[in-house]
Amino acid sequence: MKLSIAVLAGDGIGPEISREGVAVMQAVCSKFGHEVTFTPALCGAAAIDAVGNPFPPETLAICQQADAVLFSAVGDPRFDNNPNAPVRPEQGLLAMRKQLGLFANIRPVQTFDCLVHKSPLKDELVRGADFVCIRELTGGMYFGEKLEGDDRAYDTNAYTREEVERILHVAYAYARRRRRHLTVVDKANVLASSRLWRKVAQEVAQQYPDVETDYMYVDNAAMRMIQDPKFFDVMVTENTFGDILTDEGSCITGSMGLLPSASTGTGTPVFEPIHGSWPQAAGKNIANPLAQVLSVAMLLEHFDLADEAALVRHAVDASLDENVRTPEIQVEGGAHYGTHEVGQWLVNYIENA
Ligand code: IPM
Ligand code: MG
Repeated sequence: MKLSIAVLAGDGIGPEISREGVAVMQAVCSKFGHEVTFTPALCGAAAIDAVGNPFPPETLAICQQADAVLFSAVGDPRFDNNPNAPVRPEQGLLAMRKQLGLFANIRPVQTFDCLVHKSPLKDELVRGADFVCIRELTGGMYFGEKLEGDDRAYDTNAYTREEVERILHVAYAYARRRRRHLTVVDKANVLASSRLWRKVAQEVAQQYPDVETDYMYVDNAAMRMIQDPKFFDVMVTENTFGDILTDEGSCITGSMGLLPSASTGTGTPVFEPIHGSWPQAAGKNIANPLAQVLSVAMLLEHFDLADEAALVRHAVDASLDENVRTPEIQVEGGAHYGTHEVGQWLVNYIENA
């Protein structure tokens, strides 16, 4: 297979983890005889600095011409505490999602047995937790009508029936491949947009009688995720709720540096870690590359390269078993491995598999 990948490394730890993701992708493609090309492109603060735009047209064109985008992270402290900044790195990510039509964000929350002790939750609650959050990604408050005045501001949480329907179908497709249990998360007791979600969900559910559907308010879902994460199989929710719940989900697993995601829709799909740019760690070679590497596995799965993806996942499991881990998940007394050393170990594992 021939694959062309747009590589958007972005800011902070982005370039460091990106390098390892690319190396792993290259290694697995060489192993299986696939021809892969990588085209780097600017985004985020790096793009603002270079050309004044966090998602420049050249980057869009590179993404559109690629088969997939391997994205890392955007965000820079220079903008975080400046609400008056005329342009922000995160706008680059949002522009990419919108312009590529990536309405479905797939965020698996999977625990690794050997890291369960890193979770703030009790061992027995976490062990075996395995669910997927399907987050709507191009609607809701992120993109609705806004007013940003000095004395008054609002964001509109607008959704259309069509937007709700198409994400529900994605969620049901996942549920069918898994334990056939879908939880629709909303705030239908308060929000009009959520009542549309629930109405449409109840209709769409009729088409999937083989899947058990339940409906849960988002506040309750946030609680349930902590009390009983194993309750969930697939959850589907709107953009903002999904943003919040997936950070909570990543915390359950013990490290944010472990969770990948896929964003799909009408244009080139994007594969990226769910964590941010961790600017404090930039350049220190300490960031965990596994979320990026697992994003490569999701990319391979997207193209039905199941054996290739399985090899990447085996490499990750083996690295954890062998305590080849970045500092935040390393065992006491374990050797020091940086971002690059973990990446190299994975490449070596793949080459010798
Ligand atoms: C995420 C991030 C983004 C979001 C930010 C960086 C704009 O938090 O992908 O979850 O809010 O969607
Ligand atoms: Mg987020």
